[in-house]
Amino acid sequence: PLPRQVEIIDVSPRDGLQNEPVLVSADKKKELILRLSKAGFRRIETTSFVHPKWVPQMADAEAIVAYCNQLGITYITLTPNLKALERALAADVPQIAVFIGASNAFNQKNVNRTTDESLAECEPLFARAKQRGLFVRAYVSTVWHCPYQGAVSYEEVDHVVKRFAELGADEIDLGDTNGQAHPQEVFERCQSLKEAYPRMPFVGHFHDTSKLALANVYAALLAGVDRFDASTGGLGGCPFSPGATGNVATEDVLAMLDKMGIHTGTYLDAETVSFARSLSTRI
Ligand code: HMG
Ligand code: MG
Repeated sequence: PLPRQVEIIDVSPRDGLQNEPVLVSADKKKELILRLSKAGFRRIETTSFVHPKWVPQMADAEAIVAYCNQLGITYITLTPNLKALERALAADVPQIAVFIGASNAFNQKNVNRTTDESLAECEPLFARAKQRGLFVRAYVSTVWHCPYQGAVSYEEVDHVVKRFAELGADEIDLGDTNGQAHPQEVFERCQSLKEAYPRMPFVGHFHDTSKLALANVYAALLAGVDRFDASTGGLGGCPFSPGATGNVATEDVLAMLDKMGIHTGTYLDAETVSFARSLSTRI
């Protein structure tokens, strides 16, 4: 049976904008966040404490977080390493996200570490975050395919998921980073993971490079996944995944779920979708 209720986490301020070549002002990002909070999203992924050298678009993370705290919303920020976690703690964020590629090749391009080196770095990071009471979202990137290595095995994915579960991840986010997965393999892998980790909340994070992201959301729903990341206007991409396009468009997921009678508690107006799209020079 399909879940009757689904959480959509809008990631457009982070994944949507991180790869945007033209700098978007903090004021415009704040307007996007305000609009999304009014649309009823319970959580929004708003920024990343990454070094501006690697992701210049996220250089205003501190200002964005101060605004989120002022709004009183629940939001997620990316923390690629301990330094990022310290910045996040100083800024008083409620939820952080770590990310590791199941594919070693991708992880090396993305964070300059092997998958195992990143897993080892996660130990003190989780310990400190948990000690401070933070909710930890743990992303596994390249769950099905990798832009550098090609197919990714279940064992490679499980290696990361298992460690995240041991370290105390509050949810595990399954990334089709370069948007190459198809619904059948999404269904199978989600089903296997849900069987192996029955108490772990899984999130689906589908990029739309092959135009299958919405179909992949449906496939994951059939496997019982009931949390999905999506990006308003379909904005986004990862600077370290060449050619990958944005996440599945939030408005498309909401429209599909609404027709299917699945509750999300969210209403996204057309004006917000156009506003989000106006921030990107790529769509
Ligand atoms: P490194 O060069 O190995 O870093 O990069 P390092 O630890 O050696 O530090 C180098 C310098 O950067 C030092 O400064 C650090 O202090 C500084 P220096 O001593 O030279 O003056 N530094 C920082 N400054 C500010 N904030 C920080 C920070 N960290 C170090 N957080 C590193 C390793 C991870 C830092 C780097 O490779 C990196 O940041 N990569 C970017 C990764 C990224 O943001 N990728 C995009 C997001 S992931 C994604 O989009 C996928 C996802 O959507 C899911 C999916 O689709 O699958 C989540
Ligand atoms: Mg992504």
